[in-house]
Amino acid sequence: MAYSTETRVFPINPDNPEAEPIRIAAELIREGRLVAFPTETVYGLGANALDAEAIDKIYRAKRRPASDPVIAHISDMAQLDQLAQNIPPKAYELANAFWPGALTLVLQRAPGIPPNIATGLSTVAIRMPAHPVARALIQAAGVPIAAPSANTFTHPSATTAEHVLTDLRDHVDLVLDGGPTHIGLESTVVDMTGDIPSVLRPGGVVLDDLKTIILDVEMIERYTSESEHTSAPGQMLKHYSPKAPVTLFTGPLYSVLIAMKESCQMHKERGQRVGLLLAEEDCHHLGEVGVVVSLGKRTDLRSISHHLFAGLRELDAQHVDVILARDFGRAGLGAALWDRLVRAAEGNVIKVG
Ligand code: TXA
Ligand code: MG
Repeated sequence: MAYSTETRVFPINPDNPEAEPIRIAAELIREGRLVAFPTETVYGLGANALDAEAIDKIYRAKRRPASDPVIAHISDMAQLDQLAQNIPPKAYELANAFWPGALTLVLQRAPGIPPNIATGLSTVAIRMPAHPVARALIQAAGVPIAAPSANTFTHPSATTAEHVLTDLRDHVDLVLDGGPTHIGLESTVVDMTGDIPSVLRPGGVVLDDLKTIILDVEMIERYTSESEHTSAPGQMLKHYSPKAPVTLFTGPLYSVLIAMKESCQMHKERGQRVGLLLAEEDCHHLGEVGVVVSLGKRTDLRSISHHLFAGLRELDAQHVDVILARDFGRAGLGAALWDRLVRAAEGNVIKVG
């Protein structure tokens, strides 16, 4: 049964959060209720990470299968030792370098931590976010906060409070509205439990930056179908999907733009409304053939990341029948963008040139 409740929304200053909304939100967390809050990556749907029943409400609210584990958010290093055990020295090195920030570490779970946070696995994913609202909330609650992204399962992650409400109204007790999140893509998830640290999900902290701290970190690129996905949490292919089917074009830029234009024309001849996710400079090549969302300048991957999920949601709101998107390379944030776009497209990738 879905978790249902009446949703309240409190505006909050993202740089200097007011005490009263934080106090009320923290009280709700301690009571075992759900609070959505901004982090610098995306909005999280939070519950007391030490309360198994509260964690269960997250799965029900998101309509998420209880096979996909949730991240525990902390505000100080003492909570790391509370949640995890046998922490390898490399994990502390990464934490020291990138926390607070867009990095999540998968570690061995400490005894006494509710197993349903990690769907019964022996591990737990931990992140110390940098966003002042997230930090203030965790501190005031006095407990780590379990939080997946605050979207319905398989929808694009929420980067504004409006996105949270579109997906989760009446399924979350309170939404702290701190405006749009900065990064716009989720954290990088690194599994520290094997011999070699491995990136399970590329995200806000890029691989080259991880490598400045630990040399032997590797990137796992693996996508699974729904039936397989329990053995590899978070690797499921259908994810971040808007309602309209997405086609992703990859190859030399000029060839990509020509192929996208031809595809637009074909869809239009079929009477379909086409949505396009483009860089600013691409727009004049394709502008008149569909509903265009410009994500930012070609080389400004921060801007493109910041606008990606909002762009997918915007095209859904415009009721397009199909979405055409293009690749932004694999360098830096490009790896995370590629991951999210391939999943939004459910693997429907066209190679041109
Ligand atoms: O930026 C973020 O990471 C956001 C904000 C709210 O912190 N959270 C987020 O949570 O994206 P979620 O639940 O949507 O994604 C968490 C990812 C999933 O890919 C999940 O499979 C993986 O982390 N994960 C969580 N716990 C894990 C574990 N114990 N072992 C392996 N992967 C885990
Ligand atoms: Mg998510």
